Amino acid sequence: MTLRSSFDSRAGRDCLHALMKHLLFGVIFALVSCTGLAAMEAPLMNVAARQVLSLNGRWNVIVDPYDNGFVNYRLDRYDAETQPTGGYFLDRKPSSPSDLVEYDFEHSPVLNVPGDWNSQDEKLFYYESTVWYRRKFDVSPRSAATRQFISFGAANYEADVYLNGRKLGRHTGGFTPFQFEVTGKLHATGNSLVVRVNNQRRADGVPTVNTDWWNYGGLTRDVALLEAPVTCIRDYALRLQPGPERRVRGYVQLDGPDSARIVKVEIPALQVTVETAANPSGRAEFEFALNGAELWSPEHPRLYDVAISSAGDHIAEKIGFRTIETKGTDILLNGKPVFLRGISLHEENPLRGGRATTPEDARQLLGWARELGCNYVRLAHYPHNEYMARIADELGLLIWAEVPVYWTIHWDDPGTYTNAENQLTELITRDRNRASIIIWSMANETPISPARTAFLTKLVAHARSLDPSRLISAAMEVHADPADANIKIVEDPLAEVTDVVSFNQYVGWYVGLPDDCAKVRWVVPYKKPVLISEFGGDALQGLHGDRLTRFTEEFQADLYRKTLPMLEKIPQLRGMTPWILCDFRSPRRVLPAIQDGWNRKGLIGENGTRKQAFYILQEFYARKAAPSPRVAKPVELGLVPRP
Ligand code: GCU
Repeated sequence: MTLRSSFDSRAGRDCLHALMKHLLFGVIFALVSCTGLAAMEAPLMNVAARQVLSLNGRWNVIVDPYDNGFVNYRLDRYDAETQPTGGYFLDRKPSSPSDLVEYDFEHSPVLNVPGDWNSQDEKLFYYESTVWYRRKFDVSPRSAATRQFISFGAANYEADVYLNGRKLGRHTGGFTPFQFEVTGKLHATGNSLVVRVNNQRRADGVPTVNTDWWNYGGLTRDVALLEAPVTCIRDYALRLQPGPERRVRGYVQLDGPDSARIVKVEIPALQVTVETAANPSGRAEFEFALNGAELWSPEHPRLYDVAISSAGDHIAEKIGFRTIETKGTDILLNGKPVFLRGISLHEENPLRGGRATTPEDARQLLGWARELGCNYVRLAHYPHNEYMARIADELGLLIWAEVPVYWTIHWDDPGTYTNAENQLTELITRDRNRASIIIWSMANETPISPARTAFLTKLVAHARSLDPSRLISAAMEVHADPADANIKIVEDPLAEVTDVVSFNQYVGWYVGLPDDCAKVRWVVPYKKPVLISEFGGDALQGLHGDRLTRFTEEFQADLYRKTLPMLEKIPQLRGMTPWILCDFRSPRRVLPAIQDGWNRKGLIGENGTRKQAFYILQEFYARKAAPSPRVAKPVELGLVPRP
């Protein structure tokens, strides 16, 4: 068979196509590996299922306040893209006694990974600059038919990553996962992984320079070496479609030189086995009926074992099937109206201090939310770690997830937009199969302006393009009617493009006193569900006094008692996430002997003790959760003659 004739035959075309792809794949891979400047565009999903070696543990660190390892005295970067090996603190040993090397990881201090540096070393509590991390590791021989990746759950804020003295790339954004392919770059022993982490706040950053949370720096989430076959399953989604038909639609995306393969999706408990051929770019789309399934809900958080396989690769996943949609002013979960009994929380463990990083931390925080009577949580103001959503899936908690487009970021800066969009992409890619997540939120308390609304409207469209199956929101602002301050108005062009109208309101704390709540009238001119994304006030746990004395538990409790009925006056009210589950660290909170660096709006103190308001909300949620008493029919009450 001559090559010429093979052009005509389909088989010929396919093998030519495969050949071209192999070549192309080789070229792209070579290109990426030689420059390796950015983290992988599309990381492998479900890291836990791929991990071959955890790189968590004690890492040697060099604290580098002047970024001495990154720029020379002329502020030229050592690792300018033109010198891919560049970088100063790259674990080099003096080659001779006269060789000048002015650092030594081996004898440098250590920090735990995952973990922020601020809560591990008092000297680093306020530290905002660069820390160099180094981890040595060996890997057992890998078969040639596999690929290797280094995966980071997150690093705040900017991470430059080097392996064995060569730059792998950079990632920007403190709360989302990123990976680098390191196939062919690993030694059997003594691999040196060096990461420059810098958490300096930037005006053009996301978030920008001002936040009401602690700017914890470091390798704050799991680091691992992953492995997958040369052609592997990179991404997948299974979505139950709204409607009585109970159809699941989904896709599997293969990655590698040989992606035109059969893909199989199995759900043994439901006798589901679906096989589909992936197209030449490795995408396999499928649809099937979900007969006999128990739908996922907070009351019944049923998860199904799902197996996805394609020649040589296999992924196990746990997925709950549920639908979420709005209908007029209602939010429908599995077709039924639901009231979202929620609480906001930061990704912080108040008892230990520092970022919450482990499954145990997630269970503790979500367990407290359950104790409060919640069926819903707002993970503020940035993507929390993956354990949160996976454990919420298990516990049956609905989630509002958010990107840190917070207060006044640079709306006109294309780089800032790309950064925000990238963080949103990484969040949605990581968590798109989590039943618990029902809302993607684009922003928090962003002053209305044309540039802001254009920025956020574009972000909303991007979110919908990645995931049309969830609700889109943003925490908006309220303003008072200039003629009557008791009239509170929510009017935001962004509400035209979101599925729900959410806003933060602080009547009784930043605006007036709790007694003013009774006078408030709301103007929320949208036929959409309304979610109160924040309300609350500070109280130092254990500080007592009369209900008009700020910072006492009595004041906070009174504020809750007065706020809840005020909000229930909003006819479209379908949920809330009071601010906040537990006290959290903030550099903006400096009132001595009361705040001391803590935002005290928690319902639980930094020592884990519940405040009075905790029980006010718990009682309110118990009432909300109680099945509405069945209204007896007139005939049952003997009011009309029995038929
Ligand atoms: C804001 C903001 C929070 C902040 C809270 C507060 O609304 O969204 O991040 O912590 O108010 O002032 O306590």
